[in-house]
Amino acid sequence: MIEIKNLNKEINNKEILTNICFEIYKGDFVSVIGPSGSGKTTLLNILLLIIDKTSGSYNFNGKNIDEIKFDNNEVIKFRQNIGIMSSLSQLLPNINVKQNIMLPATIFEEERSKDYEKLISQLNIKKIQNNSISSLSSGEKQRVLLARALILSPLLLIADEPTANLDNNNALKIGDIMSDLNEENKTTIIIATHDDKISNKTKSILKIENGNLSKEI
Ligand SMILES: Nc1ncnc2c1ncn2[C@@H]1O[C@H](COP(=O)(O)OP(=O)(O)OP(=O)(O)O)[C@@H](O)[C@H]1O
Ligand SMILES: [Mg+2]
Repeated sequence: MIEIKNLNKEINNKEILTNICFEIYKGDFVSVIGPSGSGKTTLLNILLLIIDKTSGSYNFNGKNIDEIKFDNNEVIKFRQNIGIMSSLSQLLPNINVKQNIMLPATIFEEERSKDYEKLISQLNIKKIQNNSISSLSSGEKQRVLLARALILSPLLLIADEPTANLDNNNALKIGDIMSDLNEENKTTIIIATHDDKISNKTKSILKIENGNLSKEI
């Protein structure tokens, strides 16, 4: 699904990622771990085409990213395949939980009622589906963000620190939900995390230190 070869990223003449190589296959559940400032978010943002690499190659489903990134239609198609949960992801405060989750389906005019019902059961948000965003706890907000990232059944889910600001119990819940999604729905998942409890649930671990990547498992 993803093939990264000899990828480098420089920002302001400073090397942030050095000679990164890895592959991610359909059905993988991978965590990217490493100290603060090691390059996790930078790597995920490159995978998402939010920022550009400096050099190296990136193939997604056999297509060279350099050949699609200047074509808006191709980039939209690429993004429709990927669910994103980033630290910048926000819920819209003026519409309720259900409307927030359905937003991507509304935008792309897709009928997703069946997926919606399945997701809210899996993520245990059925009871709060008609509530306002301001009434939600942190754990509930993260689960709603996760539901919104998944409503279009993406091939790949990319989540940056999905358990940041959550207590142990809620963090474990998110980890378990992601394991289930990976097992049951076969969603390929990549998460950046500081949290050992979460990285221990993933099938493999990529470790970044000072912009250098090594595979742990
Ligand atoms: N736009 C930018 N301008 C300058 N430096 C940047 C920029 N983006 C990232 N960096 C630097 O790149 C390095 C890696 O940052 P990154 O956000 O990828 O780390 P991280 O591993 O996600 O850290 P954290 O665990 O704190 O989220 C840091 O030294 C950061 O200061
Ligand atoms: Mg980060």
